[in-house]
Amino acid sequence: MAGRIRDTDIALVRERSPIAEVVSTRVTLRSAGGGSLKGLCPFHDEKTPSFTVSPARGFYHCFGCGAGGDVITFVMESEMLGFTEAVEWLASRAGLTLTYEESPGGRTVQQPKRSGQRQRLVEAHVAAAEFYAEQLGTPGARPARQYLAERGFDQAVATEYGCGFAPTEWDALTKHLRGRKFTEDELVTAGLAKQSRRGTLIDRFRGRLLWPLRELNGDIVGFGARRLLDDDDGPKYLNTPETPIYKKSSLLYGLDRAKREIAKRHRAVVVEGYTDVMACHVAGVPTAVATCGTAFGAEHISVLRRLLMDQDEFRGEVVFTFDGDEAGMKAARRAFEEDQRFVAQTFIAVSPDGMDPCELRLANGDMAVRDLIERRTPLVRFVLQSTMDRYDLDTVEGRVAAMRACAPHVARLKDRAQRPEYARWLAGRLGMEIEPVTRAVAEAANAVARGQRPSAPAAEVPTEPAVQRPSSEDPVLAVEREALKLAVQDPVLAGPMFDAVEAVAYTHPVYVAIREAIAAAGGVVEGTSGPEWVQRLQDGCDDLVAQSVIGELAVEPVRRDGEVDARYAAVLLARLQEIAVVRQIAPLKNKLQRLNPVEKPDEFARLSGELFALEQHRRGLREQAIGGL
Ligand code: UTP
Ligand code: MN
Repeated sequence: MAGRIRDTDIALVRERSPIAEVVSTRVTLRSAGGGSLKGLCPFHDEKTPSFTVSPARGFYHCFGCGAGGDVITFVMESEMLGFTEAVEWLASRAGLTLTYEESPGGRTVQQPKRSGQRQRLVEAHVAAAEFYAEQLGTPGARPARQYLAERGFDQAVATEYGCGFAPTEWDALTKHLRGRKFTEDELVTAGLAKQSRRGTLIDRFRGRLLWPLRELNGDIVGFGARRLLDDDDGPKYLNTPETPIYKKSSLLYGLDRAKREIAKRHRAVVVEGYTDVMACHVAGVPTAVATCGTAFGAEHISVLRRLLMDQDEFRGEVVFTFDGDEAGMKAARRAFEEDQRFVAQTFIAVSPDGMDPCELRLANGDMAVRDLIERRTPLVRFVLQSTMDRYDLDTVEGRVAAMRACAPHVARLKDRAQRPEYARWLAGRLGMEIEPVTRAVAEAANAVARGQRPSAPAAEVPTEPAVQRPSSEDPVLAVEREALKLAVQDPVLAGPMFDAVEAVAYTHPVYVAIREAIAAAGGVVEGTSGPEWVQRLQDGCDDLVAQSVIGELAVEPVRRDGEVDARYAAVLLARLQEIAVVRQIAPLKNKLQRLNPVEKPDEFARLSGELFALEQHRRGLREQAIGGL
């Protein structure tokens, strides 16, 4: 037992820890007059600030949820620490050394021997990050350095972001940290090591490029790890699993660096991956952050909202970047679920040619990345445009149908002043008179008011077909369904090959959603059979239909007379890929047929090459499917 901290030291810690400064690491505070400050409460979800800080008195209080106390209480609550740990946390922040007393008035000891769990786990991560960063310079880390170079990051950037390399040995890190007196328990709890099948302790990350994941306050709480080696059959990215200190539902990669700029510019840019965050920051978009392998969810929104709020209004912009329209639609739907105030501030930036910001920077330079963000589209307009794109606007029928599909979105805008504006915009885009469009919007608004269409169900927003339940009898979808069934019922059998077949191989939106829920859960390689796995997938899905279809898949018998074994899995997955490839081949052939090779020799050559490669890929898959039988 380290004993208690001397009272005079506690007083000193309080004195050297201005409450406004400490709170500001989590919440953007604005002056609220009378010397007090206001922000969005970090202890409950709110949209107008009722969290008040009085720097003069060293107190905070939330009029919304009643939380309150001094700087130590704040750290206890926000970092989830005990009293002693909170004091230690503040002391280390202020650069103070604490003195401990064995018993009141008794002997004193310098330096704590034992500190709180959180601190230990963070310390283990800091030591791990140092170790990994050092490894990046070793000969074995060549693939990692090459990857970074290929993505346009020099050594200085890699160092700045703390990139590292996990050696391929089974227990390089474990040994290193054990030497640093971290216990096996701590390493397992931290998610840095795990039990091998033989019962020994091995590293979680091996042969991968690592990014340290930092909390808002800069604490390292986990790692994201990119596959590099051919013999690594795990998923492309592995992340630290949920631990006492790592909560993936709220952590945003890059936020520790971006928070100041986000607060200053009233804008946050949400990108998809670690490399995109780095590319954006380097290219002059310092407000970029990314989720860590999960969908952007409600908790991420609250974290950003706290930073974006200004005066008594949330008036920041959130820009989502997507490397494809489909991903953009998905996010748009998600944002629509949130309240309309958030919708009005949400923008979508879809990059050209399906490039992500990292690729865009490589192809077209820093300027192109900044441009992408500047050319963002308001969410509402994006949704309307995507809805219209589903119809053939060259026909009267198509235009009328598109108008009917768009009208409810306009009708649902909370800000009434925007409705006629968007009706006019819509009419222009559809090439129709304003009158019928305005009428359609008014009718839709009435329907909303009468409650015929409940006001903001996500699934109803842009893609109505998405809620159609796929029939278990549909022969066209049979292969997709069987593949998913296998992944739900027997993830081990589905194996890495299942994870290798991406969501584009699935055509039904519900199946796509399920495939994505599996990816979000870390892929089938992270799955263990049984109800827990099914539950995890359902929890990771916000589409109700997809949730219920997962339930169906969990119990439906496999359509196979013979043995359901590894060979069956291999054939099924090869077949799934083959169908997907065939789907790509058809339009390509079509295009080629319409193309004049004399007029456009380059394009013709490119498309022919593409077609050739696809045909070859297809033959390979065919053989795999037949060979397996
Ligand atoms: P991407 O597949 O877009 O990868 O994943 P990337 O970062 O562009 O990398 P390269 O250029 O292909 O090498 C974007 C993000 O999605 C998450 C990760 O957080 C990643 O940064 N992700 C992706 C996973 O969590 N698991 C995966 O298997 C794939
Ligand atoms: Mn990407």
